[in-house]
Amino acid sequence: RKKMILDLDTGIDDALAIAYALASEEVDLIGITSTYGNVITTAAGQNSLKILELLGRTDIPVYLGLSHSSTTDQFAVMQVSKDIHGVNGIGEVNLPQPQRTVEATAAVDFIIASARQYGDDLIIVPTGPMTNLAAALAQAPELTALVGNVTFMGGALTVPGNVTEVGEANINQDPAAADQVLRSQLSLTMVGLDVTLRTLLTKQETQLWRDLGTKSSIAFADIVDYYIDAYAALNPQLHGCALHDPLAVGVALDPSLVQTIGLNMKVETDAPFAARTVGDVERLNVPTTNVQVAVNVDVPTYLKRFMHRLTALFAQ
Ligand code: BDR
Ligand code: CA
Repeated sequence: RKKMILDLDTGIDDALAIAYALASEEVDLIGITSTYGNVITTAAGQNSLKILELLGRTDIPVYLGLSHSSTTDQFAVMQVSKDIHGVNGIGEVNLPQPQRTVEATAAVDFIIASARQYGDDLIIVPTGPMTNLAAALAQAPELTALVGNVTFMGGALTVPGNVTEVGEANINQDPAAADQVLRSQLSLTMVGLDVTLRTLLTKQETQLWRDLGTKSSIAFADIVDYYIDAYAALNPQLHGCALHDPLAVGVALDPSLVQTIGLNMKVETDAPFAARTVGDVERLNVPTTNVQVAVNVDVPTYLKRFMHRLTALFAQ
């Protein structure tokens, strides 16, 4: 079985990514590393611990990642993140304080050690800024040849950004880190807004969870309803909330869910186009490409699988 590391700024769709990974029998979730974005890094770690406890999976370790990008002094949560995920990152739902703490090992060290241990069997799924992964690459450049695949949620190729004209939230937090990752020799799959804004969930689906009446189904219904209400207020044209992060997990496990274009990509790091994910002109004539960019998604198949897996998990 494949091994997976989730690198999360645990917000609401990140929590759904945890649930999707745990509900997928074809993969072992070997650890969750934390990053900043929807909340600060320490809060992301706490939220991951809480979600794992809610789902009865206290066997999965959580590691603390870097607290801010290498190009800034500190990190402050954007207002739009608070509006979408709530100040606590999980829709202001009060889950119990976790019984355990994050591991003593740092996230970057765990990523490097896992790549050395599992090599090609390892899939890394970053669904926040890629600061941890870029730091791991800087420390251990051989990772590019070891890791099987990195499927990340971030960027936008064919649509505008969601926090600036061109910038998607995760890339926008640390464009330089994302640029290092995209221009590395890693085998990458980009699950950006091009596809994640098409896989939408509504209260019709969360009502099905609520009707199950279990602790996890009700908590997730409450958490996701907050996110659906926020999407309705901020993006009324969408008719549902975007399943950004769980789509990245779905694609990592089954690439046939999306149509991709093979490209050599980079990230603009300077104004006015900072955080734009774009083809790298310098490598336009290089015959091989290292990023499969998702541009279309089989929405009915994905949504059916998402609901099937999560409903079965919450029913336990
Ligand atoms: C991404 O930004 C975060 O707010 C979400 O969790 C998702 O990973 C969407 O742009
Ligand atoms: Ca996220």
